[in-house]
Amino acid sequence: MTSSTRRPLVAGNWKMNGDKSLVEKIESQLNQAKLSNMDWVICPPAPYLGLFSSSTKLGVQNVSQFDSGAHTGEVSVSMLKEFGCGYAIIGHSERREDNFESDEIVAQKVAKVLEAKLTPILCVGEPESVREAGTLFDYIAAQLNAVLDLVGISAFANLVLAYEPIWAIGTGKTASPEQAQEVHAFIREHLAKQDSNVAVGIVILYGGSVKGSNAKELFSQADVDGGLIGGASLNPEDFLSICLAANQ
Ligand code: 13P
Repeated sequence: MTSSTRRPLVAGNWKMNGDKSLVEKIESQLNQAKLSNMDWVICPPAPYLGLFSSSTKLGVQNVSQFDSGAHTGEVSVSMLKEFGCGYAIIGHSERREDNFESDEIVAQKVAKVLEAKLTPILCVGEPESVREAGTLFDYIAAQLNAVLDLVGISAFANLVLAYEPIWAIGTGKTASPEQAQEVHAFIREHLAKQDSNVAVGIVILYGGSVKGSNAKELFSQADVDGGLIGGASLNPEDFLSICLAANQ
């Protein structure tokens, strides 16, 4: 990353993994390290949120677009705030697919998180078929536009973006640094058409098979400001090495 205005961020998305003992292991490993040039966030399954110490920045992997009421199985933003949760991953491709979350629902969730003054980590990213068909940029633009249309460009000053190509998630097939940079630069240019200051300031994470061994090269790209980490966030040493790569 190059802009001095953007602070690197590494977020661990545990997905439906981990246990109580991992909470302690991650905290002791990360708290020993001097990570003064970046922020790290853990997004565990919701039941574990209350087990973390207050110094750990926390996020969730999903939140309801509704305030309260008859929505069995859902969790509201106000509940998350009570547990000191500052971030919410919204629009992860696994939720878009498994839970049929459309671009419109994703936009509603982003709006709800922003309204509560939490930071959405809005995920976008294409399936392999879209990349092969050559319609990658249209696809990413449509995902962004659904949210832009609802909340407006100025709200993007308060959110984090994550580019996660679906073909790279959990496959070991990481996007090359050049492939990541190309899409991150496109996203920034797309936002710059509406507001260049917002575009320069927004943190854009890369996600998809990030490991200690490839993090440094990915994060050295001009428009890659950190990572959204799945599998490697479950191993305290691997997660720490990724955080150290962002801290440089
Ligand atoms: P992996 O790091 O396991 O590929 O997962 C990426 C991801 O989906 C993070 O949200």
